Amino acid sequence: MNFVKFLGGAAIALAAIQLVPYGRDHTNPPVTGEPKWDSPRTQELFNRACKDCHSNNTVWPWYSSVAPASWLTQLDVSMGREAFNVSEWGRPEENEGEKAAEEVRKGKMPMVIYLPAHPEAKLNAQEKEELVNGLVATFGDEKNEKKDAKGAAKPKDKD
Ligand code: HEC
Repeated sequence: MNFVKFLGGAAIALAAIQLVPYGRDHTNPPVTGEPKWDSPRTQELFNRACKDCHSNNTVWPWYSSVAPASWLTQLDVSMGREAFNVSEWGRPEENEGEKAAEEVRKGKMPMVIYLPAHPEAKLNAQEKEELVNGLVATFGDEKNEKKDAKGAAKPKDKD
């Protein structure tokens, strides 16, 4: 009986959290500027592995309409676009393109949580190397190891 009660409670809780408005609007704002890609191949690999969180051409999957997955998706896309958005190239806030190659080299991007639902974003060793080289050619290469080190001061450009 207790288990049935638990299931009932879980179903009600799941239904209730759907009412939270955060993460529902799924906006793809207009493209206001694009970087000059070094090659179509770089752009293709970027589209496979990065564009959902780093452009305004996000493909919003079905689970991005279901809380709590919708909250996570929204958060990743919002934060991703804020850091680095190839659809708003040249905007006044900083676009962190020069860090992109290093993020891929270190395996920090694409985010691991993204991969199970996006197998096409999983790059093999050769594709990864191609993407890294293309990102370097397009955006430059700023190794950010030092800034990531514990306790090191990170220069703040915003706020
Ligand atoms: C599932 C969403 C998602 C995907 C896919 C993704 N990113 Fe990110 N990315 C984020 C988020 C969220 C942040 C901001 C938080 C952070 O730095 O971890 C970010 C930050 C970044 C930054 C800024 C890092 C910094 O130190 O400021 C770069 C550069 C970047 N991503 C490049 C990429 C590249 C290149 C790819 C594809 C290989 C990629 N990302 C794929 C979500 C994503």
